[in-house]
Amino acid sequence: MPDKGAFPHYMLKEIFEQPLGLRDTIGPRVSLEDAAIVLDDVRISAEELRALRRVNIVASGTSRHAGMAGQYMFQELADVPVDVDYASEFEYRNPQIGPGELTIVITQSGETADTTAAQREAKIKGSRTVAISNVIDSTIAREADGVLYTHAGPEISIASTKAFTAQMAVLFVFALYLGQVRGRLKREQRRKWIEELLELPNTLETVLRCSSDCETLAERLHAVQDFLFLGRAIHYPIAMDGALKLKEVSYVHAEGYPTGETKHGPNALIDENLPVVIIATRDANDPGSLLRHQKSVANIKGFKQQHALVIAIISEGDEEIRHLADHAISIPQAPELLLPILEIVPLQLFAYYMAVRKGLDVDRPRNLVKSVMVE
Ligand code: BG6
Repeated sequence: MPDKGAFPHYMLKEIFEQPLGLRDTIGPRVSLEDAAIVLDDVRISAEELRALRRVNIVASGTSRHAGMAGQYMFQELADVPVDVDYASEFEYRNPQIGPGELTIVITQSGETADTTAAQREAKIKGSRTVAISNVIDSTIAREADGVLYTHAGPEISIASTKAFTAQMAVLFVFALYLGQVRGRLKREQRRKWIEELLELPNTLETVLRCSSDCETLAERLHAVQDFLFLGRAIHYPIAMDGALKLKEVSYVHAEGYPTGETKHGPNALIDENLPVVIIATRDANDPGSLLRHQKSVANIKGFKQQHALVIAIISEGDEEIRHLADHAISIPQAPELLLPILEIVPLQLFAYYMAVRKGLDVDRPRNLVKSVMVE
């Protein structure tokens, strides 16, 4: 078992290992000069991938949140319809899948019972399967038709951090590969995306500098018992995982919700007793992202009128939200589809410092295990 090195907990060490995990997961699979993605271990032919009718993504916990982000990546880059499902629910739905479809099974451990069962169900139904696993030769990896390993290194802390960002990176690479194979991405587009991907680990190093801000925030909010995490579009899965991290390690109740959905109910909860953590980043080069950002500005103004305390994850230079929110943590510019890999980091750190401030067993939260081997 790797040691904690200079870190007080595995969780903090693994949060800070994320740039390395991204480099090791992305590097071997992309070629900048050829503008090509190489995924030998997928073991599914190009013509089969070209003919794919649909992709199903099935996973549990944090791995499912990666799959939720992957849905946006696949639909945007490869024009293929994607459904995302809880592994623990999948078998009860008489899943309408069959030949001509691909089921991607995402799992850090490669041993989660719900996810193993879901993969077996998909194969019985005739779907091809690809496993995304962080453990070489794990059960799920062995039983899949193809495998895409994340190379995040052993993840010891029960709360998943570096495996999560590596999962999203490998989903992005797979989406690029599908786009390439299905003729949706021209060479110049692929080259640009590969450049952005190769820059991502360096940008994540920069994001890690927010660690002391997150510690300060946890100190101020350590007594708070309920949080609402919000995100729009591809940022919604990150709101979900930020809420899950806080629940897992600090035992504080937190709910993740699509930002646009708060007006259909949750808004009744929002007042001075319910802090709102909103992901309100923007991609300056993406008009759709800028439109969504303006909607988030309007949401924040509404929450402030309801006297809520607002913590915003914003993009560098966003003075508008910096002045509206009570606390703001900024993320460097990156393409919309890659922002989730960066913006989860302050939420991981916030959850970590909340748990530390409450004197809890950060790496071994009560009632949880690293890999649930029972259904
Ligand atoms: C839970 C872990 O038990 O299982 C989570 O605490 C994890 O961190 C979930 O996301 C799924 O595990 P895996 O190994 O299938 O990704």
